[in-house]
Amino acid sequence: MAKRVLVSGGAGYIGSHVTVELIGAGYEVVVADNMSNCDMTCFEGVKKITGRDDIPFYQIDCCDYEAVTRLFDEQGIDAVIHFAAFKAVGESVAEPIMYYRNNLVSFLNILEAAKNHGGCNVLFSSSATVYGEAEDLPVTEQTPRLPATSPYGNTKQMCEDILRDVVLATAGFGGAGDSDAGVAAGGQGPVKGIALRYFNPIGAHPSALIGELPRGVPNNLVPFITQTAIGKRECLSIFGNDYPTEDGTCLRDYIDIVDLAKAHVAAVSRMIDGRMKEGYEIFNVGTGRPVSVHELVTAFEKVNGLKLNYKFAPRRPGDVVAIWADTSLANEELGWKAERSVEDTLASAWAWEKYLAGK
Ligand code: UFG
Repeated sequence: MAKRVLVSGGAGYIGSHVTVELIGAGYEVVVADNMSNCDMTCFEGVKKITGRDDIPFYQIDCCDYEAVTRLFDEQGIDAVIHFAAFKAVGESVAEPIMYYRNNLVSFLNILEAAKNHGGCNVLFSSSATVYGEAEDLPVTEQTPRLPATSPYGNTKQMCEDILRDVVLATAGFGGAGDSDAGVAAGGQGPVKGIALRYFNPIGAHPSALIGELPRGVPNNLVPFITQTAIGKRECLSIFGNDYPTEDGTCLRDYIDIVDLAKAHVAAVSRMIDGRMKEGYEIFNVGTGRPVSVHELVTAFEKVNGLKLNYKFAPRRPGDVVAIWADTSLANEELGWKAERSVEDTLASAWAWEKYLAGK
């Protein structure tokens, strides 16, 4: 029987692309989303791309433990991919209570339900933000994490640690269906965990039926670029051109969203098929190639044959100068590698923006 994966936050940007790839790989997917930061556009797109009109959808808030546990009771979950979280760095500084409550409680509920339903595999969506301004680049999974500079970043670090601790604490529990005395009371079982540390996810599905749908003024670079190109925004500000890099703008590792989604399938298969080397593992998910903000803007113009209205502006507080991934561990252990070129990814981001404009 096909294994069943719960994707919390599955109607959002990354969650919708992951749902498509999981279904393509033969998994059954259950989507949970409280729709607090998205509408049904992407979930409808997922149904069109996969030709599946019957994907179970729970409009629930993962901060509601009763709702989460009911979902587990009804669906029999083999693995969870947890995306349900707030993600705006600036907003988290202004609203720390809201961020800590939402991002921590929802994850704790997922872990508790996973533990109480005979054990489960849990994949946590972490971020390169945990590395902060790293001294040695590229960063490996062994690069020390630096103190978080925002509540958002702090929730990523804290959730990684919570997952590690839960894996450790439940390691002795027998699994679901285990008949020996190791099975803890109440059907509890071991939680196994993987944290994927994403670099900068960009782009859209090649069908242009799903993509990033920011509410209000985008914080992130690529949605700001595409919205400027379509005329929704007057001018892109490139934040800082006096950084100690070749062209003076920041360096990032932009990872295509479909490539990123495929890394999730590889990680989930590793957990479900029992190929993990340890109960808790961490992988960087990036391309391994640094690209500057100015290079990205120029590549966008070139591949899409247009001129973008942009200007250089002062540095944005909190930005690190440069961060990119050493991806050898994911390449070797997950058998996964980023494949799509940055040009194709930028073309897909533009196709998605045009699709939205025509809707
Ligand atoms: N940038 C601009 N103009 C804009 C927006 C961004 O010049 O209008 C620049 C930023 O200064 C930065 C680069 O583009 O140098 C990338 O910025 P993003 O906001 O797109 O992404 P960040 O690297 O700041 O952050 C991303 C995710 C975070 C995550 C972090 C991890 O948005 O959630 O990577 O490093 F935590």
